[in-house]
Amino acid sequence: MADPLLDPVPDLGGPAQPLLLVQNLSRHFGKKGSVVRAVDGVSFAVKKGETLGIVGESGCGKSTTSRLIMGLIEPSGGEVIFDGEHVGPGGMPLSVYRRQVQMVFQDSYASLNPRLTIGESIGFAPRVHGLSREATDARVRDLLAAVGLAPDQFARRYPHELSGGQRQRVNIARALALRPRLIILDEPVSALDKSVEAQVLNLLVDLKAEFDLSYLFISHDLNVVQFIADRVLVMYLGQVVEIGPVEALYREAAHPYTAALLASRPSMDPDLRRTTPPLTGDPPNPVNPPSGCRFHPRCAVVQRGCDIHVPPLADVSSGHLAACVRVGAA
Ligand SMILES: Nc1ncnc2c1ncn2[C@@H]1O[C@H](COP(=O)(O)OP(=O)(O)O)[C@@H](O)[C@H]1O
Ligand SMILES: [Mg+2]
Repeated sequence: MADPLLDPVPDLGGPAQPLLLVQNLSRHFGKKGSVVRAVDGVSFAVKKGETLGIVGESGCGKSTTSRLIMGLIEPSGGEVIFDGEHVGPGGMPLSVYRRQVQMVFQDSYASLNPRLTIGESIGFAPRVHGLSREATDARVRDLLAAVGLAPDQFARRYPHELSGGQRQRVNIARALALRPRLIILDEPVSALDKSVEAQVLNLLVDLKAEFDLSYLFISHDLNVVQFIADRVLVMYLGQVVEIGPVEALYREAAHPYTAALLASRPSMDPDLRRTTPPLTGDPPNPVNPPSGCRFHPRCAVVQRGCDIHVPPLADVSSGHLAACVRVGAA
């Protein structure tokens, strides 16, 4: 039998089965009286081979969602299903799941042990999983080359000797070391200069094809998500307000929050005029979210009843859904 560490875990359910299914996931922090509903009933799928982007303002629950999926924190409710199998007790053991799902964080330096060389950091997990020293060394070299860092130059360096962009390449190599199938990237380029950001995004696109990956790509930057994602999910105060193919959603945002987010971003084209007013005001406190549609106090097209009724996600077009009373209304 082949060395299981040399190959990814094989596809079980076939291409049509979602790689990741998140169902009604919730995480509430704090005690009674001041509960933060950081993630509040979130459901979505990541299809095999796709990049799903998650966007939303700071504090809307993006990172909590990623930590829940990684199993780094316990959910208050809901479940995660990976390639058709429930993750956790009675289903796929966390140890089996964790090999297949890896994460890259925003802070390239905090993610690396400053006392380990780059080579040691990348080789750490394969060694722990029993890969021989020789095979690990070979893999480290291959991975460094794959992320565009000359192995001879970089394997023996320490994290502080690298630039932010180089460190993030190392973190990506480390995430690839156990041949995962899904990588969760939480603001992976948000701390980088624009020119470096473009290089790392292009690298991620190449690696996805080379290693047959799927991505869950979290960013507050709508331009970055437009570049990298196949579909995009918009979060507001711990909930999904819109999800759909990137072209459809950017062309024709169905939720007023998405429209306002798009109108607020720095436009690439100064002549481009939008009719939607940009987003104003701070996101309200998730300790005490507004009644009805949580966006209604900031909504430019609020109607009577929006403060009472919680709109369900409804079809806009094929695969494009939004949670607004104006969607689906005849
Ligand atoms: N460990 C925690 N304890 C208490 N509140 C938390 C904790 N982690 C996150 N939160 C709160 O949950 C909400 C969502 O946070 P987060 O998931 O980090 O948002 P994002 O990544 O979209 O900026 C915020 O109000 C945040 O303050
Ligand atoms: Mg975050």
